[in-house]
Amino acid sequence: MSNVIILGAQWGDEGKGKIVDLFSDRFDMVVRYQGGHNAGHTVRIGEKTFVLKLIPSGILRPGKRAVIGNGLVIDPAALLKEIDTLEAAGVDVRGQLTISNRAHVIFPFHRIMERLSEARPGKVSIGTTSRGIGPSYEDKVARRGIRIADLLDGDLFAPLFNGLAEDKATIAEAFGIHEPMDVEATRAAYEGFANRIRPMVRDTGRQINDAIRRGESVMFEGAQGTMLDIDHGTYPFVTSSSAAAGGACTGSGVPPTRIDGVIGVSKAYITRVGGGPFPTEARDAAGDEIRRIGNEFGAVTGRPRRCGWFDAPLLRYTAEVNGFDSIIVTKLDVLDHLAEIPVCVGYRSGGVEVTEMPATTKGIEAIEPVYKRVPGWLTPTSGIGAFEELPEKAKSYLKFLESKTGVEVGCVSTGPERNQTMVLPGSRLEQLLGNGRV
Ligand code: GDP
Ligand code: IMO
Ligand code: MG
Repeated sequence: MSNVIILGAQWGDEGKGKIVDLFSDRFDMVVRYQGGHNAGHTVRIGEKTFVLKLIPSGILRPGKRAVIGNGLVIDPAALLKEIDTLEAAGVDVRGQLTISNRAHVIFPFHRIMERLSEARPGKVSIGTTSRGIGPSYEDKVARRGIRIADLLDGDLFAPLFNGLAEDKATIAEAFGIHEPMDVEATRAAYEGFANRIRPMVRDTGRQINDAIRRGESVMFEGAQGTMLDIDHGTYPFVTSSSAAAGGACTGSGVPPTRIDGVIGVSKAYITRVGGGPFPTEARDAAGDEIRRIGNEFGAVTGRPRRCGWFDAPLLRYTAEVNGFDSIIVTKLDVLDHLAEIPVCVGYRSGGVEVTEMPATTKGIEAIEPVYKRVPGWLTPTSGIGAFEELPEKAKSYLKFLESKTGVEVGCVSTGPERNQTMVLPGSRLEQLLGNGRV
């Protein structure tokens, strides 16, 4: 078995939760490496639906070890709520989960800071999830953040917290936000949170590397998607962490030499939540129809997702950034109703071919997608679990995506359930994840 990174190839919500849950039984450990409770990873198991935010989707497999790595920002109240929900559903979270002592902590004042940048007149709104993610990462990079290890140390925590809270109150006042912050009560609440999470906290970098040395296999679960990566995404309309494959190493403490493969998850079309440029957005009835059939509403905020057509140049870009060995195409069934499916095969701008992903919003907004219309299959694929059972035109659609992206399609998903998935025989993905029909 190998150590594999599975991450989003587009702007998030590609179906990572389903895929990670599905394949996690082939690994000994599942590790989240970045983000926070801005993520919403949906897993459907029979009648039950779980939406995982901070905890790796592997937790739903009994006995599987799940790790929250150092690259995350953790709101302890949100984490404990998620733990309680899972435990009420019978999951042995305390027995399976460990939390990095180097992850950073989100405080209520981070959400206030987020309002400063998101809701201030004249400022461009990113359309964030309002979870305090960005401001917590800002404190991390500014070297004034508070980490889980600090939270657990009775001597260190109070002075660090008081200092940071005072800074934030001063900034909020200066910008005209007169929101009372009960510093004493918040500190006491966080000391209470610390006692609850303490038994799960450890040096997870050491834990994962020890497991790898013993010959165990690790799956790294990305949150968000490559186009939301702080460096490689559509900056500034991105999240504040390294969602791309490189983040798996910095966000877990595992060296690049231990990674055997990288798998991208992509919808058969594309969506994005929040603001920012989106070359293949379908702002018409066809886009609305995909939203309705694909139930494209945010798992965390409930916001309608913007929908559009598969963007091959974008996927070529994310494949380059991540080094995809293979991609998993999800939600193929959502396209069943279409007689013709537009696929963006190239970018032009001002009549000239664009061969690089533009670095500015202005540059991406200027893109004129070049579409090729591929015949649809007009047959239900929902629930199909074997490639040979797919309609010929659906197979051709997948082959077309493969040829235009230059990346193998190693797995296809046709529904939210575990068995509504097929691994393509002989694929690199099959080699990386082990054989067998799912
Ligand atoms: P994630 O953030 O990447 O884990 O994705 P989300 O959970 O936010 O959104 C994906 C949604 O699509 C969830 O509601 C899944 O249950 C659902 N889903 C996943 N794969 C498929 C599929 O192949 N077909 C359909 N119809 N739904 C799917
Ligand atoms: P999963 O893991 C889709 C988007 C937000 C916003 C931008 C910044 O479920 O794929 P943030 O709160 O992170 O500062 O918001 O990033 N965003 C996501 N979009 N799926 C996600 O997670 C997202 N997490 C953040 O909508 O545009
Ligand atoms: Mg999601």
